[in-house]
Amino acid sequence: MNEEQAAPPKPVRAPRFGLSGKLLVLTILFVMIAEVLIYVPLVANFRVNWLRDHLEVAKTAALVLEAAPNGMVPDPLAKKILASIGARAVAMKMGATHYMLQPSDVTLPPISDVYDMRHVATFDAVVDAFKTMLDDKNDVMRVVGPAPMGGEYIDLVMDERPLRTAMLRYSVGLLLTSLLISGITAALVYLALHYLFVRPMRRVTDNMMAFRADPENAGRIIMPSGRVDEIGVAERELAAMQTELASMLQQKNRLAALGLAVSKINHDLRNLLASAQLFSDRLAKLPDPTVQRFAPKLMQALERAIAFCQSTLSYGRLQEAPPDRRPILLEPLVEEVHETLNLAPDASIRWISAVERGLTVEADYDQLFRILLNLARNAVQAMESRAARDPGRDQVRITGRREGAVVVIEVSDTGPGFSEKARAHLFEAFQGSTRTGGTGLGLAIAAELIRAHGGEIRLVEGTIGATLRLTIPDRAVELSAHRGTGARARA
Ligand SMILES: Nc1ncnc2c1ncn2[C@@H]1O[C@H](COP(=O)(O)OP(=O)(O)OP(=O)(O)O)[C@@H](O)[C@H]1O
Ligand SMILES: [Mg+2]
Repeated sequence: MNEEQAAPPKPVRAPRFGLSGKLLVLTILFVMIAEVLIYVPLVANFRVNWLRDHLEVAKTAALVLEAAPNGMVPDPLAKKILASIGARAVAMKMGATHYMLQPSDVTLPPISDVYDMRHVATFDAVVDAFKTMLDDKNDVMRVVGPAPMGGEYIDLVMDERPLRTAMLRYSVGLLLTSLLISGITAALVYLALHYLFVRPMRRVTDNMMAFRADPENAGRIIMPSGRVDEIGVAERELAAMQTELASMLQQKNRLAALGLAVSKINHDLRNLLASAQLFSDRLAKLPDPTVQRFAPKLMQALERAIAFCQSTLSYGRLQEAPPDRRPILLEPLVEEVHETLNLAPDASIRWISAVERGLTVEADYDQLFRILLNLARNAVQAMESRAARDPGRDQVRITGRREGAVVVIEVSDTGPGFSEKARAHLFEAFQGSTRTGGTGLGLAIAAELIRAHGGEIRLVEGTIGATLRLTIPDRAVELSAHRGTGARARA
């Protein structure tokens, strides 16, 4: 088939939600999960640092307290200092002395949370961070930290809202950064996977689909890209498989064409031989003694040639006609095979028919006749071909018996048995013949016919000579037909 004749391959559509799409979504999802996992400790850490920074600033303010006479600072200055650190009050304990930075005209609101920044456990830091962010009320908190210059502690009383606002701003910033990072990462991972994996995979699948549309076209065999990874292996294996398949198909096509040509030649050859047979028939009637001697041989040779053409022709047909199965008596059929074989009257080969009396088999008469004739003829030919003949002992035996719903027929002989070559190609047409002048069709035809009966044929091992066993099951009873008859009978 050439390129023009080949049907154009169907356009290969990428699946709607293919590997690329799935990869993209999964990458974004995984990066987002990673970002969330990182966000939790980051926001907790941000809060701790924010509070510590404020404590640091408060420490500077506390130094003013220490320097002031009696630890008292005038109200306007105290207010200024407190405003600059964003606190309502600062207290410090140095030894036995308590310093307090708080305007005298201001009373402190009730404190709702106390955070000791001297010892911060990680888990508490995380919990407190979320508590701060989720609590919308403007609570007042007390933050305790280490005091400067060997003091005991420093206390900071301040509103929680500025902390919350700072944390939310930080979170939004982090979220935007995360989105950017996950976008960039997803794009990079996606591109890498797309070029490393999805694109070559798509090339392989596209090629498979194109090849399937026209498997005989060697131009559609994939060209391996030379990669050394698994995809490279897949490409090379695919190329090897496609090459084998394409050449096998080409060979099959050539054989089919050859078969057709041979059938045509055979057909005409058979007609020519049939005419030759007519002439030799008339020749045989001449009284000439030489003609009388050779005419039967000529007739026999022609008959053989015609039979040879006939069997090749019938094998060349795509299928035998389906068997017309009806119950037939086996014994007379076997006898007819015997007569057709026309064994030499000197009884050098004995014919033994051991068929159960009255045995019937559900088969096509003509087809079963052809099967048994082929097998019996093979047996005779095998014994005749033997160099050392043993005329007293050579025999062909046909046995037939019923085993339940199956009829078993065996054709055995005392010949040399199947050769290695014949065994290797048992039941294969044109392959197994070891006989000069044999076509190697007899057993193949027998096997095909027996299979059409739902039965099987096989070589029985371990016997003297050769034994072929046929099993033919009775036809299955069609229950619907049976029920129909029953219904009619009752009606
Ligand atoms: N009874 C047998 N004993 C030994 N070898 C056998 C026997 N039957 C068949 N064979 C071997 O199997 C081969 C194939 O048999 P088959 O009948 O298929 O072809 P054939 O006899 O060579 O040719 P034809 O197509 O004319 O029958 C034979 O050539 C023979 O070597
Ligand atoms: Mg044969």
